[in-house]
Amino acid sequence: MVSSVVTETELWERLGKLPRVQLGNFPTPLEPLQRISKFLGVQIFIKRDDLTGLAFGGNKTRHLEFGLGQAIHDGCDVVVNGAAVQSNYCRQTAAACAKLGLKCALVLRRNPEIERLKIEPQGNLLLDYLFGADVRFIGPDEDLEEAKERVAEEYRAKGHKPFVIRHPDLSGGFGYLICLLELVEQCRQLGIKPTHIVHSSATPTQVGFVVGTKALGLDWQVLGVAPFCRNGVPERIAELSNLVAKKLNLPVQVSPEEINFTTEFAGEGYGVPTPEAIEAMKLMAQMEGIVLDPVYTAKAFAAIVAMARDGRLTSEHTVIFVHTGGTPALFAYQPALVQALGLTSG
Ligand SMILES: Cc1ncc(COP(=O)(O)O)c(C=O)c1O
Repeated sequence: MVSSVVTETELWERLGKLPRVQLGNFPTPLEPLQRISKFLGVQIFIKRDDLTGLAFGGNKTRHLEFGLGQAIHDGCDVVVNGAAVQSNYCRQTAAACAKLGLKCALVLRRNPEIERLKIEPQGNLLLDYLFGADVRFIGPDEDLEEAKERVAEEYRAKGHKPFVIRHPDLSGGFGYLICLLELVEQCRQLGIKPTHIVHSSATPTQVGFVVGTKALGLDWQVLGVAPFCRNGVPERIAELSNLVAKKLNLPVQVSPEEINFTTEFAGEGYGVPTPEAIEAMKLMAQMEGIVLDPVYTAKAFAAIVAMARDGRLTSEHTVIFVHTGGTPALFAYQPALVQALGLTSG
């Protein structure tokens, strides 16, 4: 056991001082995966952040409670966000803005790997339009941050006060500190002692878990599973963790060597489902009645399946799998899934 630098109550109090807006239903459930645990021989629980309650749910609801809390605090009337065409973040941003009466502008970058996703109004993109977002597209090689700034400037010229969501910012770290505090309480109630938290990671979500476990002195191993093959992620997670800790006045120092982040299950790259991810989706659907998404959560759960099979996870372990959402993307991946599931249309 590592020693804690803060109590749970103190951490709640410090987080409570930050600007925040209510968007989701928390705490999300923590449930046992009974049939899969038996099948894999590892005790696995699932944290249902696919059920955060905002527009099909997902981890970005937690990020946005802090991000848009800041936007409202700053008196902004337009929110500019951007990412890939099938971005879950953008879909939830559009929904949150609708709920809060803010205008939402989205800059979506075409994904070079999946041609069909270019402009097909399906899945998350269909929902962006439904929530009334001002949707713009850029090419795969264009700079997203610059494009977001151009759109913000357009709105400024029309007399608006835009709030640009930067990637990554600290909001996801704060959001996932709250998630960790929920987990600590839920594990206490269930009488379980987790050894691992496993989740899909592109940085901010893992920041919250890393800072939280360290600050509370928990010996839970946090494993972030990459949906892509990129370098420099542990460095960024450590850097952001230190900024989050500083903002909350926590004497916590994180170095890149301490970050457990793996690209082992990313396959060919972002947005390209692997055969193991498809197997994980089928397993979760057919043994637990739970939907994973093909871009993030299926690859993360495929990591648990692989580690249970090769002995990295055993009956000695208790694993929390964090379902970070993303399920609307399932429908945008219909052609890939039809093929992978061996179905024929028509
Ligand atoms: C479903 C899903 N899971 C996980 C992630 C990774 O979250 P983060 O960027 O906070 O690490 C994302 C990011 O877009 C996501 O949409």
